[in-house]
Amino acid sequence: MTKTVFHLGLQEQQLKDIEIALLPGDPDRVPKIAKHLSHVETLASHREFRSMRGSYKGHQVLVCSTGIGGPSTAICVEELAMLGIRRFLRIGTTGAIQDAIEPGDVIVPTAAVRMDGASRHMAPLEYPAVADFRLVQKLVQGLESHRIPYHLGVSASSDTFYQGQSRSDSFRKGFVPREMLDRFQEMKALQVLSFEMEAATLFTQCSSYGLSAAAVLGVLVNRNRNEFPAPELIAQTEERVITAALTCIEHL
Ligand code: URA
Repeated sequence: MTKTVFHLGLQEQQLKDIEIALLPGDPDRVPKIAKHLSHVETLASHREFRSMRGSYKGHQVLVCSTGIGGPSTAICVEELAMLGIRRFLRIGTTGAIQDAIEPGDVIVPTAAVRMDGASRHMAPLEYPAVADFRLVQKLVQGLESHRIPYHLGVSASSDTFYQGQSRSDSFRKGFVPREMLDRFQEMKALQVLSFEMEAATLFTQCSSYGLSAAAVLGVLVNRNRNEFPAPELIAQTEERVITAALTCIEHL
């Protein structure tokens, strides 16, 4: 009997021949990515996990949303790995913390600071959260060929959007626990490029399982200047990261 995995609602035969899984956080981004593919099939939709497959220039591609944060990303990656997926590419957004990075730019993290909780369930904290070098190379090639401005370096993954990224504009106005309050300045001084919420889990899980993973992140805001991205900027950034991901697939 064919087994359906617990959360994604998918079976192994539905993912036959898939070469790479594209992982946006947001389920609404799944069709936006899939519209660039041909022979698109809708597969499943359970909780935050929405999945579609299709082909791009002869490569079989899965698009599956992870939801926000490490715990749901870890479920998604675990179940896809159980079904035979070996390459993962997160397509996401991020908030820049270095002054020279502009909204609309793209960040390709080479590694992530493990401020999440989920990656600690995969490997001890001494284990690095690193991206797959070959996937990173292909992403960079794609960004350069499309002349998309990008930054390569370390990002930080936090379990929370507000406190964990030193945001004080939340319910307890102005109050952020001391350890979290210092994070922004500390990470900035350590040359970390940006905050997001999933890469550390994805990188630790994949490299410790012998799988490949990378991420391409659109910069929505520069935290030194502005907290609210314009809708046109969100759309432009989405298209840029999708372009980078598709060019990476082309060169698999
Ligand atoms: N995602 C995050 O986690 N933080 C940001 O500032 C923007 C996107």
